[in-house]
Amino acid sequence: MSLDIVILAAGQGTRMRSALPKVLHPVAGNSMLGHVIHSARQLSPDSIQVVIGHGADKVREQLAADDLSFVLQDKQLGTGHAVAQAVPALSADTVLILYGDVPLIEVETLQRLLTLVNDQQLGLLTVTLDDPTGYGRIVRDEQNRVSAIVEHKDATDAQKAIKEGNTGILALPGKRLADWLGRLSNNNAQGEYYLTDVIAMAVNDGLIVATAQPHDPMEVQGANDRKQLAELERHYQLREARRLMALGVTLRDPVRFDVRGDVTVGRDVTIDINVILEGRVVIEDDVSIGPNCVIKDSTLRKGAIIKANSHLEGAIVGEAADAGPFARLRPGSVLGARAHVGNFVELKNAEMGEGAKAGHLAYLGDAVIGARTNIGAGTITCNYDGANKHKTVLGEDVFIGSNNSLVAPVDISSGATTAAGSTITQNVAVEQLAVARARQRNIDGWKRPVKIKKH
Ligand code: UD1
Ligand code: CA
Repeated sequence: MSLDIVILAAGQGTRMRSALPKVLHPVAGNSMLGHVIHSARQLSPDSIQVVIGHGADKVREQLAADDLSFVLQDKQLGTGHAVAQAVPALSADTVLILYGDVPLIEVETLQRLLTLVNDQQLGLLTVTLDDPTGYGRIVRDEQNRVSAIVEHKDATDAQKAIKEGNTGILALPGKRLADWLGRLSNNNAQGEYYLTDVIAMAVNDGLIVATAQPHDPMEVQGANDRKQLAELERHYQLREARRLMALGVTLRDPVRFDVRGDVTVGRDVTIDINVILEGRVVIEDDVSIGPNCVIKDSTLRKGAIIKANSHLEGAIVGEAADAGPFARLRPGSVLGARAHVGNFVELKNAEMGEGAKAGHLAYLGDAVIGARTNIGAGTITCNYDGANKHKTVLGEDVFIGSNNSLVAPVDISSGATTAAGSTITQNVAVEQLAVARARQRNIDGWKRPVKIKKH
């Protein structure tokens, strides 16, 4: 069975009160439309058509990809009109309609819906709600077969009492679609070409409309305003928290935990409150993450410990290594096994070998630091001369005294020591001591300046 997917994303979203097109508003760090595209791709369709209108340029710019086709709907004349814009590009047996502002739809639900569709049958996703106000209502005949969808604004009081609502998500035989859409009229309460009118046409043509329901109504919830956007966000986060807990992660509080990307976890991982995981994060067994950490595009190897208030981006933390509290690991930071980075230490493009330590207050940029080397408090690599970045290379078992300035490019070989307060501008050879500070002078009987009293 071949499949074309049409995603409607042309609407304005006035109630967002935003310069950003509605479908670009993020849920869990990805645009709503991005989530829908992600789900669509997992169905391996022959094409994905995205119907855009409001903010079309921005939408295209942000989401352009080889496997997506964008179709412009100049004027938003209704959902039927929107789908009609994509029709010339459709050729598959089945066409699935999705919505750019309904981001949490599950692939499994769509797969169930797709099993219902064939030459003689449509698949319609419906949802039963206590208050279906605003939804199109599913009208069924005496045999309980779907006969039509009536929009809320066109419904009689008796129809408004129907609790089964139209989610809008629909799978239909591609061959019939152009004909049905060509017959739509806009003679209704909203003066729009309703996609939903296709249902009655299909029934008149002798087709059956089979229905499926999502497991959770939030799957088909759209976001029209920021309140609904926040509800989708919280729902997504709770779902993600439950997924991770099921895999063996302890979350100190599942409602104070946010994922904005793809997270892979091992077992017996512990995550304290207010942790944000962004991008691609890999967390191996026995890792512990303290409160208030932000971890982006990073890998934490087995048994790594990230203490409170640490920020990691593009970092690799080795087995049983630890960082924080208040550590900042910027892109290219690599901590070897059992390496230690303490409070107020910043690393950028810096590798620390096995068991190397930087306990307090340091900046290590563009550096390679050998195994077991110790960096004293207050040490910085002077890696930038205003134009170029230079490298600092420290061997194994080096001891850098407190408050050193390591002026790169500079090499300090294995076993070397530098004295506290040194400004190191020249290479230091194996096992040498470098002292690079002014010698202390003590002056006897020093008279301090005295203040002269006014009036
Ligand atoms: C639609 C359904 C309704 C269903 C509800 C579920 C129709 C006629 N009605 O109503 O039965 O219960 O969704 O939320 O289909 N769009 C375009 N171009 C247009 C019009 C809409 O791209 O010309 C897009 C919108 O951006 C939106 C989606 O289609 O993502 C739905 O449009 P909207 O106008 O919100 O439809 P509803 O009135 O909610
Ligand atoms: Ca809507």
